[in-house]
Amino acid sequence: MADTELQLPGFPMPRTDPLAPPPAYALWREGPPRRVQLPLGDQPWLLTRHADVRAALADARLSADSRNPKLPRMVPLPPGPSRVSFLRMDDPEHGVLRRMLTPEFTLRRVNEMRPGIQQTVDRLIAEMAAVDGPVDLVESFSLPLPALVICQLLGVPHADQPFFQHNIEIISTVSEDSAEVAEAFGQLARYLDELTAAKEADPGEDLLGRVAARYVAAGELDHEQLVAMARLLLVAGNDATANMIAMAVLTLLRHPDQLAQLRADPGLVPSAVDELLRFLSVSQNGMVRVATADLEIGGQLIAADDGVLFSLLAANHDEDAFENASELRILRDSRSHVAFGHGAHQCLGKSLARVELQIALTSLLAAFPDISLAVDFDRLRFHFDSFVYGVDELPVFLGKEPA
Ligand code: HEM
Repeated sequence: MADTELQLPGFPMPRTDPLAPPPAYALWREGPPRRVQLPLGDQPWLLTRHADVRAALADARLSADSRNPKLPRMVPLPPGPSRVSFLRMDDPEHGVLRRMLTPEFTLRRVNEMRPGIQQTVDRLIAEMAAVDGPVDLVESFSLPLPALVICQLLGVPHADQPFFQHNIEIISTVSEDSAEVAEAFGQLARYLDELTAAKEADPGEDLLGRVAARYVAAGELDHEQLVAMARLLLVAGNDATANMIAMAVLTLLRHPDQLAQLRADPGLVPSAVDELLRFLSVSQNGMVRVATADLEIGGQLIAADDGVLFSLLAANHDEDAFENASELRILRDSRSHVAFGHGAHQCLGKSLARVELQIALTSLLAAFPDISLAVDFDRLRFHFDSFVYGVDELPVFLGKEPA
């Protein structure tokens, strides 16, 4: 490796404040994209400006295809053959598979899921309210909620939900490369294989059943592709939502003026949710592409086969896009944020994620008017370098803090 390559700044970059982006991002936004060093050796260009990130994510010359060996890698490839999901494919292949799922994530469909989500939230809140003393909001609320919503979405029978939830929680909490995670992934993969086969044989009124009845039966989708879709929904839909719920609550507790404003007018919840999505941008490290042609981004020439890495967090804190971007302002119009990505791969579940967050925050704040942190903020542990940012545990008092 040449000397100049050794001097590249490393990525992920360190944070100094757990509720703010790495300070280096502000400097990076001032110049054109530059290369960074990833832990496994790749040296992609890092994009940090809001305008660059949006333009590049809409540019079809940047490929997300993980079968391309030039795509930058954040973690080693998983062992064994497993079918790639459409998250890591390009159009037209990506679009064909994604369009099979889009009817499942329309606003109308997501609104139909509201009563089920509300019921789950109410049950989790009742269970927490019955506990004496502090509760860990991560374990008791933010982890189980999205896991149970995915069960509802995929049509996981009630009796299997504890098994499913248990393994999802392992994937979402234990460090990314441990044997325990591999085992949990294996369990879920086997389960999804069986569940999908059952839906193909007897499609019910749920997502997997509908897609099986329409596309597998017509020979447009095979069993393995449907299993890969189910796996994608499980992984994409769970981790980010779970971490967002806990981090949103923590962030509001650390911004009492904004919390008071929200309590005074719960109608502000949808706007607050989008501002929290922007402010936290929990999908912090995993957005990669590879150039399939020479192109220019933000004044920098990027050659074909070069890797590109997007910091959604840096883009969402760009002063050129959001005034006083470092401040949480629940009244601001933050809808141009890129916390859900942008372009062809923009989050398919964004309406569902918004609804989950809105119901979770509305119900939690209404049920517990005096919720407060049960430990010093400095004692909280955050997973700084993982794909999705978040807090390991969030102990809170739900009632009045003891004197
Ligand atoms: C894609 C963020 C919740 C399903 C993405 C991407 C981001 C993202 C940034 C783009 C990845 C890329 O371009 O490489 C989030 C956040 C969420 C969330 C921050 C919660 C707060 C969900 C939920 C679901 C979901 C609840 C479904 C149950 C997907 C799918 C894709 C995706 C299927 C792939 C889309 C494609 O490749 O066309 N998400 N997501 N996400 N998300 Fe989400």
